This record gives sequence, C-alpha cells and structure tokens, in this order.
Amino acid sequence: MTFSAMLSTAMLAKGGLSAENTGNTGGNADESSSQYAVKKPFGDSKDVARYDHYRVYSVMLDTNQHVNLFQKLEEQSDSLTFMGHAREVGQRLTVLVAAHKVADFGILLEIYGVQHRILALNFQEKIDRNMKEVIPADAAGASLDWKHFFHLETIYDWLEHMVAQYPTCLSIVEMGNSTHGVPIKGLKLSRKSTNKTIFIESGIHAREWIAPAAATYLINELLTAKHDAIQKLANDFNWIVFPCVNPDGYKYTFEHDRMWRKNRQLFGTCHGVDLNRNYPDHWNTTGASSDPSRYDYAGPSAASEIETMRLMDFLKANVENEQIRTYIALHSYSQMIMFPYGYTKEHVPNYNDLQELGSNAANRIQEISGRKYVSGSLIETIYPSSGGSMDWAYSNMKVPIAYTFELRGPSDSSDMFILPANEIEPTAHETFEAIRTIVEGANEKGYYK
Ligand SMILES: *[C@@H]1O[C@H](CO)[C@@H](O)[C@H](O)[C@H]1NC(C)=O
Ligand SMILES: *[C@@H]1O[C@H](CO)[C@@H](O)[C@H](O)[C@H]1NC(C)=O
Ligand SMILES: *[C@@H]1O[C@H](CO)[C@@H](O)[C@H](O)[C@H]1NC(C)=O
Ligand SMILES: [Zn+2]
Repeated sequence: MTFSAMLSTAMLAKGGLSAENTGNTGGNADESSSQYAVKKPFGDSKDVARYDHYRVYSVMLDTNQHVNLFQKLEEQSDSLTFMGHAREVGQRLTVLVAAHKVADFGILLEIYGVQHRILALNFQEKIDRNMKEVIPADAAGASLDWKHFFHLETIYDWLEHMVAQYPTCLSIVEMGNSTHGVPIKGLKLSRKSTNKTIFIESGIHAREWIAPAAATYLINELLTAKHDAIQKLANDFNWIVFPCVNPDGYKYTFEHDRMWRKNRQLFGTCHGVDLNRNYPDHWNTTGASSDPSRYDYAGPSAASEIETMRLMDFLKANVENEQIRTYIALHSYSQMIMFPYGYTKEHVPNYNDLQELGSNAANRIQEISGRKYVSGSLIETIYPSSGGSMDWAYSNMKVPIAYTFELRGPSDSSDMFILPANEIEPTAHETFEAIRTIVEGANEKGYYK
C-alpha cells in the first residue's frame, strides 16, 4: 500500500465509516475463521510481533539527571517500552528494551551511573510459555476454566452457557459494537430488580489478560459458591460484569502482538487510543500523550473512541434505573487497589471511606495469599493520569464507590502482563474477596441505602 493510500485509509477510518472500507484487500470469501471478525479488521496479515532477546530492566532514578535522561530516552526511542513515565527522583521504573538496543542502553546506564537490575533477558520466552497456556479459539464456553487463558470467542460462548444454566437470574447485556464491529458483551446477575448494582469493567487494556479471567471468575463464584456470605452478596446486590470492554485490542493480543494495550483505531501511520485516557473528565491534562504512537495516547478528542462512547452510553442509560453505586475497573499489574482521583492530588469527598475500604481489601488479600497490595488514590499510588473511566464514573455518573485494581504480579515483576496461568485462580480468588470486602464494608457504611 502506498503512503497516500494508507493516509486515505486513515481518513476513512477517522470519518467513522465502517471497517469494511479500511482493512479491505478485496474478496469476501473466507472472511474469517471467527464469528466476530466479520470485517477483517486486521487485513489478511498473519504476522505476529516477536520479542526475542528483548530485556526487561528495572532502573532506579536516583538524581534529576537520571529523571531527565529517561524522559529523553522515552521521547526519542520507540525501541524502549516504558511502564509509566520518568517523573521524579526516587522512582523505580520498568523498561522493556528492544534487542538491537541492549548494548547501547547498557552503556548509557553505566555512563550515567544508573542503578538497575535485569529482570528478564529474553522476553519472547515468556510469551512463548504463555501462548502454550491458551486454549484454541474454537473451544466451547463450557470448557472455560481458570487454569488457562481464553480467546474472546470462548469467553462470549461461556456467557451464553452461563445464561442457559441460570436463566432466571442471569442475562446477556450488550453495549453495542467496537470500532471493528465486535460486540461488547457482559452478564447481568439480578435477583431483585430494586437492589443496588455493582458494575465491573474489565479488559480495557488489551494485554492485561488476567483481568477478563478475574471477571469471569467473579460471576462464576457469585453463582456457584456455597458460602453463605457469598450467596448473600449474590442475592442482595445486582452485578453487571463486562469481561472485555476492548475486544478489538484483546483479539489483537492473541492474533498479532501479545503486548498490545490500546484499541485498534487507525491514525495515519499508527494505531490505537489508550481507552483509559479517553474519558471526558479532565481529558488530556496529565499522564497522557497526544502522540498516537504512544502507549498512553489520549485520542484526538475526549470520548473520541467508539468503545468509550459505548461504555458511557451504557452507564448513562443504566446508572439510575439499575442504581449502579459501585464501579470497579480491573487491570494488571502492580498489586494496587486505587480510588479517585487519577488527575489530581485533591481528595475526593469520601476519601477516608475509600481509603479504609481499600486498605481492608488489601489486608484481606494478604490474609488469603500473603500478597501485598497497596491502596490509595490513583495519583498517589501509581502515577498521575487523566481521562480514566473510574474518574469519569465517580465524578460524572456520581458512583460513590469507585476503584481501579491492578492485579498480580508485583510492580517489579519480570513477567509484567504475562502472568503464568497457574496464578489465574489464586489471583481471581483474592480479587473476588477484595471486592467482597469493599462491597460489604460500603454496605455497612450505608452506601447502598
Ligand atoms: C454488530 O456487529 C455484528 C457482527 O459482529 C452485526 O451482526 C451487528 O448487526 C452489529 N450491530 C450493530 C448495532 O451495528
Ligand atoms: C435487596 O432486596 C431485598 C428484597 O427487597 C432486600 O431485603 C435487601 O435488603 C436488598 N439488599 C440491599 C443490600 O439493599
Ligand atoms: C493535549 O495536551 C497537550 C499538552 O498540553 C497539547 O499539546 C495537545 O494539543 C493536547 N491535545 C489536544 C488534541 O488538545
Ligand atoms: Zn491497565
């Protein structure tokens, strides 16, 4: 494709025309092996990104010079993938370094005296191991478990399978279609229409595979656990759970690039908006990029993305009639339980309650598994970021109990987003118990009156 053809393709995409006009390389036969990829969003490409001999470094920013150095490096090179931005002295930063840069990067660390640890020498090995833990896309929903990772097709089939098993209290909920025409589906568990609703958003970042798995686990637990307290939780509250609010991105991580984070909208030469920077709440004010090639691109305007609009429309339409009083977003990694705001250090009105419930949830996890999660406002706990869904739900939809979870592993994890499958069940279990702690605690405090 010529450059100008690519650009005009981008214009079409930006103009909001359907993806039939974008990835099209002619011919409708053999459209896809998947029931959802009807519009061939990724073209005919079977190419898969590789990370052979990419290294994961943990660096310590001891001086202002170090901070400046890493700010420059991030600006200059897309061969270095930063987990967060260099901001302040005393900060520890994880960087994925492309194979052709490891020599140069190592020399820079030496010259500038940057303390560091190499967390992984060949990132592709982790991806290879991880891909062996994926069950093929044609697996039936009934085969879903929490010992493997599953394609979107199987997760969606599992939603139907669960509704068939629990038809009186479970139903499918839909937000509409993604940029590439993939439905955004979830489940609603409701036994008393007058009860308050807990809303779970999961998978907004494509590569954080543990998040959709924790969401399906939560639904399963609510329906099948024998424990009285859990049955009470399933009877006293309604639950709306969307395991994957970025389906295009999630599919892309299975088919083309395990490390993809954003949605798959096209902007000339690069793809994707960070959907968790795209919400119309202090949009593009801090901790977001205006460069489409960056991992935290905020988008061309607030709520520019179809997936953002779908979620907003769903929440606006349902926040009152479903009485949504809790909003929980699931991410990985770093083991954190965070509440608003992300964009300012100013405290929310119910800061003390959110801090107390968050700390109780973290303590509960430590009791169960020994894992240490930290709790605090998002900006104080991870880094400044604006345009996040949690801030929007809290401030604009007035949902008073709002959290963003970063699940396993720890912030210096060498696996980053590639959590081993044998950690799915323990992670999902401790997450469930943390959410239970929050909801029960908020109930005692009268938030669901
Ligand atoms: C969503 O996409 C599906 C195909 O995946 C299509 O059948 C359906 O009509 C689309 N729905 C809307 C509202 O566009
Ligand atoms: C859910 O509804 C039932 C029946 O109306 C009610 O007894 C119960 O208190 C409600 N739960 C909560 C947490 O409000
Ligand atoms: C986003 O913010 C940056 C930094 O303030 C600014 O340069 C850029 O123009 C903003 N983007 C848009 C689309 O307003
Ligand atoms: Zn995330």
